[in-house]
Amino acid sequence: MPSQEELIEEAEAALAKLGTPPMPVDPYPLYEALRRVDRVYRSPVLQAYAVTGYEEVSQLAKMPNMKNGGRAATIRREDWEEHDSLRLFLRALVTLDPPEHTALRSLASSVFTPSAIKRLRGSIEKIAEQYLDVLAEQASGGAPVDLVKLVASPYPVAVICELLGVPSEKGMLFYELANDWTRVWGGGAYTEEELARADEATKELRGHFEELFRDRRAQPREDLISGLVAEVEAGRLSDEDLMGLSTFLFIAGFETTTNLISTSVWTLLENRDELKRWRENPDITASAVEELIRHGTPISGTVRLAGEPLHIGGHDIPENSLIFLMTAGANRDPAQFPDPDRLDLTRNDGAHVGFGGGAHYCLGANLARMEAQVILPALINRFSTIEIEGTPQWRTATGLHGFDHLPLVLGK
Ligand code: HEM
Repeated sequence: MPSQEELIEEAEAALAKLGTPPMPVDPYPLYEALRRVDRVYRSPVLQAYAVTGYEEVSQLAKMPNMKNGGRAATIRREDWEEHDSLRLFLRALVTLDPPEHTALRSLASSVFTPSAIKRLRGSIEKIAEQYLDVLAEQASGGAPVDLVKLVASPYPVAVICELLGVPSEKGMLFYELANDWTRVWGGGAYTEEELARADEATKELRGHFEELFRDRRAQPREDLISGLVAEVEAGRLSDEDLMGLSTFLFIAGFETTTNLISTSVWTLLENRDELKRWRENPDITASAVEELIRHGTPISGTVRLAGEPLHIGGHDIPENSLIFLMTAGANRDPAQFPDPDRLDLTRNDGAHVGFGGGAHYCLGANLARMEAQVILPALINRFSTIEIEGTPQWRTATGLHGFDHLPLVLGK
C-alpha cells in the first residue's frame, strides 16, 4: 500500500506529464493517479486544483462565477494588446466571461439553432460520401492511406464551411492559417517566432473574413455569416465581435471533430467486438457516438479561475484559484461509469462531460454529434476490412486527444 507521500509524488508526476508536450498516448492512468489522492486535488507545486471527479467537474462547470483560465493567462503577458493574434483570441466566445459572454452566447445561439443544424444533414451526408469516395479510390491499390489527411481533417472543415458560408475552395487555406493562430491560444508555451507567425496568420484570416462579410452584406444568403452580418446591421453586434465569433466558430468547428473521428476509428480497431456489434446493429449509432466521446474525450479539459471563494468536495477554494477541470479524467471516473476503461457502445450510465458544461457548454455539440453519426457508420460499413499499417502518430499538443496521422489499409 503506497504511502500518502508516494501518492502525492505520483500525482505531481502525472500533472507534469499532462502539462508538458508530447501528450501521452494513454493519459488515463495519469488522471487516475490524481484521483487516488483526491477527486479535487490541490497541487502544492502548481498552486492549482486538478479536478478529476465526475460530479465535481459537472458542478464546478455550472458555477456562475468562474472565469476563463485561458483569458487570465493571456493577459498576464504585458504586451498582449500589441498582438492581434492574442487580441482576437480574447474575442472568441469561449474566452469571454459574463456579462459579455452571456450577451454574445445568446446572440450566437439565435443563429446556431437546432433547425439550422438539422437542415444541414443532407449536405453533411453528401460531403461524407465525397471524402469516403476519395479514401476508397486512394486505398484501392492496397497501399496505406492516411485517415486524418483524407477524411478526419477535411470533412469537418468542409462541413463548417457549408454552415458558415465560407467558399469550400478556401476551407483548407483557412485551416492552415487557423493552425498557425491557435498555437498561441490559451496562454500555453509558445515561442516569439510562433507568436509572429500567429499575428501574420490572424491578419490574413481577417482579410479573408472581411471579404466574406462584404459579400454577404451586399448579397445575403442562407448561411450563418449572413445571419451574423444582419445582427451587425441591426446594431446588436460590433464589427470586432463579428470577426471574433466567425473566426472562432470556424476553428471550433473542425479542431475537435477531427480528433473525435481519428480516435474513434482507432478505438474501434482496438475493440473489434464492439466494431462488429455496431456493424450488425446500425440502430445503436447515437449511443455509440456518445460512448466514443466519453471514452476518447477529444478535448482533455478546460481551465477556470475562481471568481469567488468556492466550496467543493470538502475543499474551500479561495478566490482567484486556478482550477483544471479535467473532463477526460471525469469521463473515466468509476464512481460514475462502472468499469470506465471498457468501451461499451450501448452504455447508459449518464451523460459524459466531453462537451463541457454550464455557460460554456459546447455550442456545436449537436453538429459534432451529427457529423460523427454520419461519417463513422458510413466508414465502418463501406470497407470489408480496416487495418492499421505502419505507425500511427499521436498529436503532441497537450489538451487535445487525437492523431496527426492514422495509416490504414482498407479492404473493398
Ligand atoms: C467532438 C467535437 C467537439 C468537442 C469534443 C467539443 C468540446 C467543447 C468543449 C469541451 C467546450 C467547452 C470549453 C470550455 O468550457 O472552456 C466547447 C465549447 C464550444 N464549442 Fe465545441 N466541441 C466539439 C465540436 C464543436 C463544433 C463542431 C462546433 C461548431 C462550431 C463547436 C463550437 C463550440 C463553441 C462555439 C464553444 C464555446 C461556447 C461558449 O463559450 O459559450 N464545437 N466545445
